[in-house]
Amino acid sequence: MSLKGKHIILGICGGIAAYKCASLARLLIKAGAEVQVIMTPAAKEFITPLTMSTLTGKPVISEFFTANTGQWNSHVDLGLWADAMLIAPATASTIGKMANGVADNMLVTTYLSAKSQVFIAPSMDLDMMRHPSTVRNIELLKSYGNIIIEPAEGELASHLIGKGRMEEPENILKVLDYYFTPKDLQGQHFLVTAGPTFEKIDPVRFIGNYSSGKMGYALANEAAARGAEVTIVSGPVDIKGVNPGVKIVKIESARQMLEQCEKIFPAVDCAIMCAAVADYAPVVQHETKIKREKDEIPVIHLMKNPDIAATLGKAKRAGQLLVGFALETDNEDVNAVDKLHRKNLDMIVLNSLKDAGAGFGTDTNKVTIFTSTGRQSQFALKSKTEVAADIVDAIVSLAHES
Ligand code: PMT
Repeated sequence: MSLKGKHIILGICGGIAAYKCASLARLLIKAGAEVQVIMTPAAKEFITPLTMSTLTGKPVISEFFTANTGQWNSHVDLGLWADAMLIAPATASTIGKMANGVADNMLVTTYLSAKSQVFIAPSMDLDMMRHPSTVRNIELLKSYGNIIIEPAEGELASHLIGKGRMEEPENILKVLDYYFTPKDLQGQHFLVTAGPTFEKIDPVRFIGNYSSGKMGYALANEAAARGAEVTIVSGPVDIKGVNPGVKIVKIESARQMLEQCEKIFPAVDCAIMCAAVADYAPVVQHETKIKREKDEIPVIHLMKNPDIAATLGKAKRAGQLLVGFALETDNEDVNAVDKLHRKNLDMIVLNSLKDAGAGFGTDTNKVTIFTSTGRQSQFALKSKTEVAADIVDAIVSLAHES
C-alpha cells in the first residue's frame, strides 16, 4: 500500500531470472506503483519488451534513441522521475558497470543519474556470485548507499546448488513496501495477541476455534514496518512471511497467554488484543487419552478462563493504549461498545460473522472502529493487510488525541 502512486524504474538485465520480472511488475502495479521498465540489450533475449510493456502499460526503454521516431530517451528525466530504481535481476556484468561507472547502456546511464534509492537484486551462478570481483563490486555498490536484496540459495539454472537465485518477487515487493512505509511508530513498543487458544482436554483433544492468526500477524507486521518494536503472543497458527523484526512468543492456552501478556504489557505503549481467546477451559486435563466407553458419554466440566483484555485494562497506566477486538454475530455495535467500556479499552475493532469475507480464516476483513472518545469509523471489505494499516492509522490518531 505504501507503494501507491510511487514511480518505480524496473531495470532488467540479461539473466535467466528475467522471466520473474513479469510477476514482479504485476505485483508492483497491483500495489499501486507506476512502473517504467528499462532493459539491457541482453535482457530482451530472456523476456520480451512486449510482455513488459503490456504488463506495465508503458513502452519499454532499452536504447538511447527510439529507433522509429529518433526520440532521445532522457536518462536524466527518468532518474528524476523515479521514487526508486530496482535492478532485478542484476547480473555480474551490470553490477560491475554500476560499481565502476561504465555508462554504455540506458540502464547504467539512468542508474548514474538517479537521485532516488536504488535496490539491486543480484542473480547469477554461485561461482560468479562469490568471485572476488563480484564481491568487491557489490561492496562498492553498498558503500554508495544502494540496497542489495541478497539472492537466495537453491538450485540455479546451471543445476548447481548454491547462492545466486534472484529473491522471489513477493519478497522484493516487501523490501520496497517496507522502504516506503512511513516510520511513524519509531521508538514505540507494541504487544499483539493473535490466533486461537487451545484448551487441553487430554493429550489428543482440545477446545479451540477457527482463528488463523492472519489478522493479528498482519497487525504485528504493519506496526513493525512502521518502526515499532513488536512482540506477538501467539496461539497455535501457521503463518509465513512474518517481519523478521517481530518477536514471537508461542503459547497454547488462555492462561499461558495471560501470563506472557502480564509480563510484556508494563513496558509497551500499545497492546492490540486480536486473539480469539477461549472463554472456557476443561476443569480437568487428562494425562492419558480418554477412552471410548461402550455405554458412557463423558462429561467435560468447564471453568471460566481469565479475561486477558480486561486484566490488562485494570493494569493500564496513563499513556498506554489498549485495543480490543469484538467478534460478533448479532447486536454488533451494542455488544462491541459494551466490551469497550467493560474491559477499559481505548478502542475496539468490531468484525461481524454476518459480513461475507470478514472474521476467521479469510484473507479479508470488514471492520468498524469505536474509540472511548466516542468516535466511530466504518471501513469497507479489504485485505487483512489493508485493514491492519487502517487500524494502526486509527491508533496513531487516537494517541495524538490523548
Ligand atoms: O485470526 P483470523 O483468522 O485472522 O481471525 C481474526 C479474528 C476474527 C480472530 C479477529 O479479527 C478477532 O475478532 N479477534 C477477537 C475474537 C474474540 O475473541 O472476540 P471476543 O468478542 O470474544 O473478545 C473481545 C476481546 O476480548 C478481544 O480483544 C479478545 O482478544 C479479548 N478476550 C476475550 C476473551 C478472553 N478470555 N480474554 C480476552 O482477552
